[in-house]
Amino acid sequence: MSGTVLPIPGFLSERLLAYEEVSIKTRRNGKPLVLGKKPPSGSVILQSNDYLSISTHPRILQAQISRLEQGCNEMVMSAVFLHEGSDKSLFENAMAEFAGFDSAILCQSGWAANVGLMQTIADQHTPVYIDFFSHMSLWEGVKTSGAPFYAFMHNDSDHLEKLVKQHGQGIIVVDSLYSTTGDIAPLTEIIDIANRYNCLSLVDESHSLGTHGPKGSGLVASLGLTDRVHFITGSLAKAFAGRAGIILAPKRFAQYYPYAAFPAIFSSALLPHEIAGLSATLEVIIEGDDRRKKLHDHSDFLRSGLDALGYSIVSQSQIISLEPGSEPQMEILRDALEDHNIFGSVFCAPATPKNRSLMRFSLNSSMDKTELQQVLDVCQIIREEAGMWEWKSTKRKKLTGESRACSL
Ligand SMILES: Cc1ncc(COP(=O)(O)O)c(C=O)c1O
Repeated sequence: MSGTVLPIPGFLSERLLAYEEVSIKTRRNGKPLVLGKKPPSGSVILQSNDYLSISTHPRILQAQISRLEQGCNEMVMSAVFLHEGSDKSLFENAMAEFAGFDSAILCQSGWAANVGLMQTIADQHTPVYIDFFSHMSLWEGVKTSGAPFYAFMHNDSDHLEKLVKQHGQGIIVVDSLYSTTGDIAPLTEIIDIANRYNCLSLVDESHSLGTHGPKGSGLVASLGLTDRVHFITGSLAKAFAGRAGIILAPKRFAQYYPYAAFPAIFSSALLPHEIAGLSATLEVIIEGDDRRKKLHDHSDFLRSGLDALGYSIVSQSQIISLEPGSEPQMEILRDALEDHNIFGSVFCAPATPKNRSLMRFSLNSSMDKTELQQVLDVCQIIREEAGMWEWKSTKRKKLTGESRACSL
């Protein structure tokens, strides 16, 4: 195929050059840092967010197939035109009941949910208080809203309260379980502050919906905070293993959102077979206590094993990260793990601050003890080669003398 190659103007060319110089040419394998080797078969792959191992569950697949076979695709359009009683609204009712909320709003992704929600609740006059480690989609939403924002130190409710006292009533935004380090927000303290200062509260439960709380209804529910939180958001591309997002909200707000949020108005709705799949997924999740138990047992086992090997582990969940810090150290760790057929996910800037890169292991319920032991054995063998004793995170751990692995 031949085509005309248009010249790229200087301003874009400079940007591409900077990327190639900094992010490609400096790499050992000439590829972006997140891309190591392709996993050979038989590898232990710890990259998927399908925490409950349900993405190929026969009931979920069958629900999608049946809906496709009905040949009904009336939703090739924006959801703004849908009436009560649509598949979408039936699923929303089921999600609201599951989470103990007034209403739910189905979105095309967790990203769309967070951006749309921030755009519709914040404005130039409303301060937003956001945990420094909150997900990029929340930050993007804050930027879109034009609100003044104040980042508080990660999981530091004293710092949050100080900022709220200084800048007044606004919106408090946190993740329940942080997607990079796997640690959990002090939700009770944070919601106490939100309630005390009449702030709106938004908790992103992307990594705890399905995996935590009664029947998987999340951390807010498990802490008895449901009646005290205004909004919960979640990606349904984690434990729900689909392609969607959800906002749990007061009913009055849910009636307003579809006609005000740009991602809801100007981006097409999910298709009926996708919603049929999600409805079946919800049933599988509700019945998933055994899967949840296995997931938490595996996580306890790996966290405490890594901690005992000297790694600094701040995780309290199924997301467990090793923190080499600098990008060259990250590359060495990645290659060492991959040479032993262990594949995690590399997180580096812009997903982490520069020089705080980390290797994320996402566990799932269908792993077996042999695989977990293999991860530990490899992490033991590679400690010297990866320079683990020299990492800043290891030194921090030594300094504080703490063993932070803990069980839920
Ligand atoms: C905490 C958190 N919120 C939101 C999102 C965005 O979700 P989605 O992938 O469904 O757009 C993610 C996904 O990476 C996430 O980890």
